[in-house]
Amino acid sequence: MTHEVAVIPGDGIGRGVVPSAVDVLEATEADLTFVHDEAGDAVATECGDPLPAETADLARRADATLFGAAGETAAEVVLPLRSAVDSFVNVRPARAYPGVDALHPDVDVVFLRENTEGVYVGDETREDGRATLTRVVTADASRKLAEFACEFVAERGFDGLTVAHKANVMQETDGLFLETVEAVADERGVAVDPVLMDALATHLCLHPEEYDVIVTPNLAGDVLSDLAAGLVGGLGLLPSANLGDERGLFEPVHGTAPDIAGEGVANPVAAVLSAAMMLEFLGYDEEGERVRTAVEDVLADGPRTPDLGGEAGTDEVTGAIVERL
Ligand code: IPM
Ligand code: MN
Repeated sequence: MTHEVAVIPGDGIGRGVVPSAVDVLEATEADLTFVHDEAGDAVATECGDPLPAETADLARRADATLFGAAGETAAEVVLPLRSAVDSFVNVRPARAYPGVDALHPDVDVVFLRENTEGVYVGDETREDGRATLTRVVTADASRKLAEFACEFVAERGFDGLTVAHKANVMQETDGLFLETVEAVADERGVAVDPVLMDALATHLCLHPEEYDVIVTPNLAGDVLSDLAAGLVGGLGLLPSANLGDERGLFEPVHGTAPDIAGEGVANPVAAVLSAAMMLEFLGYDEEGERVRTAVEDVLADGPRTPDLGGEAGTDEVTGAIVERL
């Protein structure tokens, strides 16, 4: 049975790296049908809406969506796309690779970021020199994330999970988040290590090798995963999967990188690894693994893009990955 994949490159380097990911997906010979559409700044300028209804519908209907990045309109594009696929968790693995200069060569950590609420609900006002933001945490969303996290830990044979929180200050919101994650983990016999997110930021810089799976509220996951990118060699390496029960949206953690957009030198690895996560989500485990191995080989032997100290362009790196496949 063929799977329909929506391809939405967006703006900036999204337009360079998403075609690379599609080339790699095609080379695996997984049974995929690609449907292309547009979203982002350029579309907003053209038709007034950064995420036309037609593009959102495509994501809602497709089995999986591959997204690149959006510029100024990022929040208006990616947040509705994440809800279009009903994603409740954003899976963000960060690992160091042999051959890539990393601050910490032994990082291999996965952030499981809450993907629907927290400060991302969009309830913000500003009036007369006073701005407010509503932070929403529900037991339902926290439980859904915790259940996923416990399964993730059990399936991959980890000892337990770390949960990032700031319940000493946000006693009700993060209090509820932490209590819910702890309760679900307790029901399922999974060990939990609760860590204040500020202390976690320090400890991640000093001893990232001590962490496997970190469950986070929405904004904390955004910040901590970028921090982890810095530990392993940069944002060019981090993929992500926004998962729902039936659909998923797969996107690199990086943005549009306007400083290098259009120059053909963007690192395709984050997008290609996002495509590998998509393959696994769709049940093409063997193909996903092959893509990951091909990427690892190319990172070890080159060619590499300038962000990793190399001189190769996006196409050359993509070609090398395809060649390995
Ligand atoms: C990311 C981005 C988005 C987020 C923005 C653009 C809405 O920073 O994917 O990490 O905060 O999730
Ligand atoms: Mn981010």
